[in-house]
Amino acid sequence: MHLNWLRSFPALPDRQDPDLTPSALARAELESAFPGWDLTLTLSPGMGDTWVYDRIGRSVILTGGETGLLYGAYALIRAGLAGRALPEHLESAPAYGLRMIDCWDNLDGSIERGYAGRSLFFEGGRFAYDPARVRHVARMMASVGLNVLCVNNVNVRQPAQSLMDGLLPDLSALADLFRPFGVRLMISVDFSAPLGCGVGSADPLSPEVRQWWAEAADRIYAEVPDLAGFLVKADSEGQPGPHTYGRTHAEGANMLAEALRPHGGTVVWRCFVYNCKQDWRDKGTDRPMAAYDTYKPLDGQFAENVILQVKNGPFDFQVREPLSPLLLGMSRTPLGLEVQLAQEYTGQQIDLYTMATLWKEIMADLPAGNIRAMAAVSNLGRDENYFGHPLAAVNLFTFGRLCWDPAGYDPEAAVTEWIRLSYGFTGAEENALRGWMLRSREIYEKYTAPLGLCWMVNPHTHYGPNPWGYEFDLWGTYNRADRQAVGIDRTGAGTGYTLQYPPALRERYENPQTCPDGLKLFFHRMAYDAVMADGRTLIQRIYDDHFEGAREAEAMRDALKALPFPAPDRQVIAERADRQAENAREWRDVVNTFFRRLSGADDARGRRIYD
Ligand code: GCU
Repeated sequence: MHLNWLRSFPALPDRQDPDLTPSALARAELESAFPGWDLTLTLSPGMGDTWVYDRIGRSVILTGGETGLLYGAYALIRAGLAGRALPEHLESAPAYGLRMIDCWDNLDGSIERGYAGRSLFFEGGRFAYDPARVRHVARMMASVGLNVLCVNNVNVRQPAQSLMDGLLPDLSALADLFRPFGVRLMISVDFSAPLGCGVGSADPLSPEVRQWWAEAADRIYAEVPDLAGFLVKADSEGQPGPHTYGRTHAEGANMLAEALRPHGGTVVWRCFVYNCKQDWRDKGTDRPMAAYDTYKPLDGQFAENVILQVKNGPFDFQVREPLSPLLLGMSRTPLGLEVQLAQEYTGQQIDLYTMATLWKEIMADLPAGNIRAMAAVSNLGRDENYFGHPLAAVNLFTFGRLCWDPAGYDPEAAVTEWIRLSYGFTGAEENALRGWMLRSREIYEKYTAPLGLCWMVNPHTHYGPNPWGYEFDLWGTYNRADRQAVGIDRTGAGTGYTLQYPPALRERYENPQTCPDGLKLFFHRMAYDAVMADGRTLIQRIYDDHFEGAREAEAMRDALKALPFPAPDRQVIAERADRQAENAREWRDVVNTFFRRLSGADDARGRRIYD
């Protein structure tokens, strides 16, 4: 079985005993990783996820809650195996209570935006899984402090009730596998479920509907008493929601919250709401503004056990977006940040795209304030190595490290630890791999849509270049390139999007002089001959980036092929690096030709741009 970063961990104690507790697992893990240690584990249930470590001479004392001991054990094992020295005293507590992986797995076994094979959990309309692989996923999650897994797609396609009733015993059996690792399950629910179950409505203010949800929750919690709660995509891309009944999202979410409250469950309500039937001729609607416009007026109206889950950017996990203003604008509502490990727009686990630095950039603008949860769309699947691209595993690993300790999170250190645990590289090999992994985002960014412009991808599949693929469509995704200029003016003088930000960010983005180059075309409409901070024209910057990006993808391919990865990773990495170099070449030529045809501008350095 492929082990990713658990490769250097000792074999998993082979106990599938349903009564195995996280603290007992912690002891077993530590004893097998460090057989010579004089170890004292002290369970202090009130400490929850928190742990304290002390070393006095040869004695090691670990104190923590039931899950705290487990997280402490894994932190010690990671440090020990990666050759990191520990101080004599350490204390650690996670920054967020919910540290989630959201699987977009369908009951038929397919995965929406899955790039690592079919579902690990479902096939043919029912649960179907290999318990050993599930335990491996649970151990991977626990080893970096992740504690919730939402098992099914937010676009709930199965008959409304199946997860809630027909498949409950199977859900319960799956929860048993995850429980020793401190991982609780969550399920995505269909807001209109009561409609399909004999109640003539899904109106959140209807007493029958409320009663139906309360009873559904009772049945679910009878089988899975520690279910973390419900994840909901409502009134979004065709999913049903409270707007059908003229109700607000606060009314919808609070109805579900009421049903979950007696069981201690949480409603995680996604804020991915926008007009997905826009007319491209309509310049008065600017999609990135939609979520803020919908939710800001509802700030303070949500029940205590509701968390609003907001994507990191205002569009949809594009290669570069600014932080969503909604994350900064809801001071009276608990929020969750949603990122996407599944590389939908970022190379589909064919192209290398290490997100370690992205996490840092997101956190730079995000005040700790009312963030209660972090969620990542899963990049896991049934492929032998779980991630499609063996190096894509780093994204789950660093995401876990980020949600445990965003303040102390260091991308370089996290990637280094992952490399050592996964491949045991040291010295020049470690440096080379870390260097390419940390640069991989920038390389991808250079050869795809320029400077925050977004959406130049092939429609639907979202892999490969297509500059006008989304231009005359209904998704609100336009670049409005013409012969003089490209981009949309999103300042106060334009669509007004920048006005959704607090003053410091608003000023930074409003002014083309202070707007970072990487986001210039997100916020501004720019003439091709506009001069950038470094003196180059916009068009020259576009050409340069695309030539450089494609060249760097080739250099990265050659460097990765020279590293001594073990089989089968070596072959898979080489094969994907070849495909990436080809993809980069295609992007380079399509984007450069597109802009050359429009602008008529030649490359100042005389490189070949096709007619
Ligand atoms: C994107 C993605 C969809 C997904 C949606 C979501 O639009 O392409 O597949 O359902 O995000 O986050 O809900």
